[in-house]
Amino acid sequence: MNDLKHVAIILDGNGRWAKEKGLSRSKGHYHGFTNLKKLSEYIFDKGIKVLSVYAFSTENFKRDKKEVDYLMNLFQKAFKGYGEVLNQKGVKVVFSGRRDPLPKGVLNTIDDISSKTKNNTKGIFNICINYGGQYEILDAVKNISKKVKEEKLEIDDITLETVYQNMYQDLPPVDLMIRTSGEQRLSNFLLFQNAYAEFYFPKVYFPDFNEKEFDKAVEEYHNRDRRFGNVKENK
Ligand code: FPP
Repeated sequence: MNDLKHVAIILDGNGRWAKEKGLSRSKGHYHGFTNLKKLSEYIFDKGIKVLSVYAFSTENFKRDKKEVDYLMNLFQKAFKGYGEVLNQKGVKVVFSGRRDPLPKGVLNTIDDISSKTKNNTKGIFNICINYGGQYEILDAVKNISKKVKEEKLEIDDITLETVYQNMYQDLPPVDLMIRTSGEQRLSNFLLFQNAYAEFYFPKVYFPDFNEKEFDKAVEEYHNRDRRFGNVKENK
């Protein structure tokens, strides 16, 4: 079965895309965002239920202040207008990542759009900001330990399902993990959820990763033989 429920994308290559065109890195991020708007609508219209994107990692805070400020402003403005479009489409928007040190303006818009869309059922858009996969696992371990300490959970009752439920969001495992720009690394993205994902690394930079490129990724996914550790079936 190659059902495609959960697609994850590492939005990589905005900077190189801009550099090749003699533009600033900010322009690259702006074009990346414009592309994400179109692409996410296309993905949900195709009936894919969950889309996760890596918009900003915990490590990205080490970048030049000007670039970080630009991205934070972009997120804040984007979640207002774009969030409304997603709401009209019936998509539930959720955010994964640590709140601290995200600016108050970003947190307010995140809270606003999460609460406005919380009852939507057409799809789930998981936006990862100030996100790190190792921290997500660490935070889940802390949550579970707290429940054990408060005697709400027995150690012997902790299963993989419990771990899933204590991730930032209770989402199905990733089926297809895409990283644009030709880099072949996971960079701390959805470490637990990507355990059996199919990986796809197109060479194009994210601003050029359009609907046609996405269809190529889906075609490749359907040609893969997913075995989940099992033996190859006779065809
Ligand atoms: C990595 O590529 C990209 C980022 C750190 C930012 C990605 C953000 C967006 C596409 C905007 C998304 C907007 C919303 C509202 C979710 P890079 O800039 O490091 O590229 P490079 O490796 O070529 O320098």
